[in-house]
Amino acid sequence: MKLGSVSENLSSEKRISITPEIVKKYNSLGFKVYLNSGYGSHLGFNDNEYKNLKVEILNNPKEVIKIADLIVQLNLPEDENSNLIGKDQTLIGIFDPYINKQKINNLIKKKINIFSLELLPRITRAQSMDILSSQANLAGYKAVIESFSKFEKAIPMMMTAAGTVPAAKVLVVGAGVAGLQAIATAKRMGAIVFATDVRMASREQVESLGGKFLTVENSENLETNDGYAKETTDSFKKKQEELLSEILKKIDIVICTALIPGKKAPLIIKDHMINNMKTGSVIYDLAASQGGNTAFTEVDKVIEKNGVKIMGERNVLNKLPISSSNLYAKNIYNFILNLYDKENRKLNIDLEDVIIKKTLLK
Ligand code: NAI
Repeated sequence: MKLGSVSENLSSEKRISITPEIVKKYNSLGFKVYLNSGYGSHLGFNDNEYKNLKVEILNNPKEVIKIADLIVQLNLPEDENSNLIGKDQTLIGIFDPYINKQKINNLIKKKINIFSLELLPRITRAQSMDILSSQANLAGYKAVIESFSKFEKAIPMMMTAAGTVPAAKVLVVGAGVAGLQAIATAKRMGAIVFATDVRMASREQVESLGGKFLTVENSENLETNDGYAKETTDSFKKKQEELLSEILKKIDIVICTALIPGKKAPLIIKDHMINNMKTGSVIYDLAASQGGNTAFTEVDKVIEKNGVKIMGERNVLNKLPISSSNLYAKNIYNFILNLYDKENRKLNIDLEDVIIKKTLLK
């Protein structure tokens, strides 16, 4: 089995799919790995490090695409490269099928097998392949670090001879994978942490991390059978707005993570709520690239409104590219392990397997 990966567009994506660490595992499966020259050099993984692990380094991405049976990426390869992918080749990554519909349809027509891993079912067997969890976990951590670095006061309570510095108060909106890591990180740094979510199951998780859960009064549990959030009703939105408007007056830092799969992110922190916040407060919006949870979020900008800084990035993981690549590479390896028939040394696209069925684009 020939496994290849080519450089991403480095202006928007610093992560890679094949780290030196994971090459050893592919080697022991009997795979031959192909990369283009310079593939990992922006992360300090130079060609020689890969060559020492028996990777074949080719001159350019086109040569890799032509030779590989199986191509693993973060994003869809750029057109000049994806046009070279042909019949019976397999492509694995995070391809945003709702946004890249046309490009993906063109590839499917050429009988290319495309697996998009954001569609993985959230089942126990798929946990080791769950790219959404591994990446959201790191994003939740980094959102806290980024927002704390913009906040111009100390985070933990400090009692000094010169007086007491109060602990910063943090609100986490959305207590999924990213939100729970944000709570844990903010607690570890000494903040007082509040959190809210529409899924009641998250209450216990928030409390077990030492956060205070804010429940929207008389609200029903808005959780789908798959464990995701449902869209909220107008009456829920009104009650949530009342609850958060009050608490936000006391909050120093807000981490927004609220998302609904396949939909624009819900607008939760409205302009009047921001106007009532304390000067110097910071909002980090992890939902920025899906439209944002605040009225003023703009991707890759820090907006200042009424003395409140509102920030969000298209890809915060570009600031943690090594950790996120290491986890992503392991997720992909585990996915391939499930797809690979060791005995016959070929991929087995078994549509009875829910992991394969849900991720294969048709
Ligand atoms: P997500 O990224 O889709 O959403 C983030 C959070 O925002 C969620 O907790 C959601 O309930 C919340 N949210 C959405 N709209 C909101 C609103 N209007 N107000 C407040 N909060 C709102 O979710 P994520 O992090 O991907 O997790 C989804 C579910 O999947 C969770 O239940 C998680 O525990 C579960 N999960 C299960 C795994 C498994 O293998 N069994 C693995 C990973 C996650």
